[in-house]
Amino acid sequence: MTCSKAFCPGRNAKRSNKFGQNGAAIARGGSVQFRQPLTTRGSSDTPAAAMSEAIPTRLLKLDEEGLLQAVEVLGHGGLVAFPTETVYGLGADATNDRAVARIFEAKGRPHFNPLICHYPDAEAITSSVLVDRRAEALAAAFWPGALTLVLPRSAACPVSLLCSAGMSSLAVRVPALQSARDLLSAFGRPIAAPSANRSGKVSPTRAEHVVQELAGRIELLLDGGPCSVGVESTVLSLLDERPLLLRPGGITAEAIAEVLGEMPRSPDKETAITAPGMLTSHYAPDSHLRLNVTALEPGEALLSFGPASIQGAVIEMNLSPSGDLQEAAARLFAALRRLDRSGAKAIAVMPIPEEGLGRAINDRLRRAAAPRSSLPSDLG
Ligand code: TXA
Ligand code: MG
Repeated sequence: MTCSKAFCPGRNAKRSNKFGQNGAAIARGGSVQFRQPLTTRGSSDTPAAAMSEAIPTRLLKLDEEGLLQAVEVLGHGGLVAFPTETVYGLGADATNDRAVARIFEAKGRPHFNPLICHYPDAEAITSSVLVDRRAEALAAAFWPGALTLVLPRSAACPVSLLCSAGMSSLAVRVPALQSARDLLSAFGRPIAAPSANRSGKVSPTRAEHVVQELAGRIELLLDGGPCSVGVESTVLSLLDERPLLLRPGGITAEAIAEVLGEMPRSPDKETAITAPGMLTSHYAPDSHLRLNVTALEPGEALLSFGPASIQGAVIEMNLSPSGDLQEAAARLFAALRRLDRSGAKAIAVMPIPEEGLGRAINDRLRRAAAPRSSLPSDLG
């Protein structure tokens, strides 16, 4: 994406102290650009070859101009970190598969955890999820606010399957911070946003925390000051008859019970299988999967990657003919679903490089291929 002069400081821009760790440069217009040195990017085990060019990260105030720029960046599939009342979120166009795949890459997430989709108001969620009476009551009581509801995806849900980690549910939230809702209204599409931290780190509650974690990995950071709540939203699943509290947060279980007339369950050993980050909550195909395949058996479907193929498949889906891992991640769940529906004897999967987003893709493939009785329980 090209940006206007006012927001792209040139070579003469000065050094900043406030956000200086990543080589910040301040332009006269008040925007700040970061270029994080490549050597500090990625986890220590990420091969240098897997790292792409550092992205110049602009820092803008969360004002009208900042919102306009954010809408433009999001519209081009870019990443924008923005504040909510709970924590800063790492936002992308939730309807754009590749943009959502970039979130996982920027966070350095080793596997695909489902993401929360943000909406400007309760009405806006109805195109994405099925809303029952309980959801309506909770939305009326707590939205906008620090409550995330996990609901069934609607048939015409426009949101990328990556946001759902391949499942048939979607987490939705209407944030309380007015400027976050202004951004959502101005963008006009749902924004997928996990907390704007690197994988394994604590959630950021100030713009400078985001700079420390994500400078050089995102296009834009909107600084709206410190977050007022400071802990993440409560995540409540309404997929079953009894509500399930997946994550305690800004709205208490007691407050939820007052609206619903019953206390939500907490995940126990039995219910834990539906909790976030756990294997069976993610897409598990009915078909048997064979991984790292170089030769096909009769009757198999092929999930290929890269320019080469293997002859003899009953059906083939290529995750990325050019070998682009971002594109492959974006297509993974939809391709698996398609092949699963094909009626093929099994799904044979060609080798995917174990680097960058390839690690997340392989993680999901390994879990999808594991015998159902020996599912590892925790994905972290
Ligand atoms: O306050 C918040 O919720 C912040 C702000 C930015 O909105 N977001 C946030 O996102 O904390 P994240 O990705 O860091 O945490 C989302 C949690 C994860 O534990 C994830 O597994 C769970 O919500 N989650 C998301 N979608 C889910 C789904 N469909 N089913 C079950 N759990 C889901
Ligand atoms: Mg988080």
